[in-house]
Amino acid sequence: LVASMEQVEQTYIMVKPDGVQRGLVGEIISRFEKKGFKLTGLKLFQCPKDLAEEHYKDLTSRPFFPKLITYITSGPVVCMAWEGVGVVASARKLIGSTDPLQAEPGTIRGDLAVQTGRNVVHGSDSPENGKREIALWFKEGEVCHWTPALALWIS
Ligand code: PPS
Repeated sequence: LVASMEQVEQTYIMVKPDGVQRGLVGEIISRFEKKGFKLTGLKLFQCPKDLAEEHYKDLTSRPFFPKLITYITSGPVVCMAWEGVGVVASARKLIGSTDPLQAEPGTIRGDLAVQTGRNVVHGSDSPENGKREIALWFKEGEVCHWTPALALWIS
């Protein structure tokens, strides 16, 4: 069965500075690769303050906002675009709850983190935000939409 194009979504996944510092980049990329999603964008990047503020603009009024911006800009992040059928919701499941102590074992946060303010990874919360965030973090030409030559089970 070939999935119809409408079901194919894009999500923005980011290894946060603590994930990079702790050497978890490979482990995190692996979880999405093994699930069967397609990597379409990948870079190590030091995020400027204005980009962090734009990315998290819906949270401006939250008490933790300044700390969140300091955290995200504290060191390089790994920016990723992933594509696939249902990838937005599935990636959120693979990542686990925002608070790592509530996240189920087997999820990235459930296995690898303990604090909300150091929860190692971000994933878009809707297909609309997936598109918005990929456009925000990647320049034109940095995202590759490729067709698998052999592994036809990768959506
Ligand atoms: S909410 O309350 O539903 O809007 O928040 P939530 O979707 O759970 O989280 C939104 C993002 O804010 C981060 N967050 C925090 N960062 C630092 N400190 C505290 N206390 C905190 N609470 C929430 C949370 O990790 C989400 O960021 P992303 O990058 O999407 O994980």
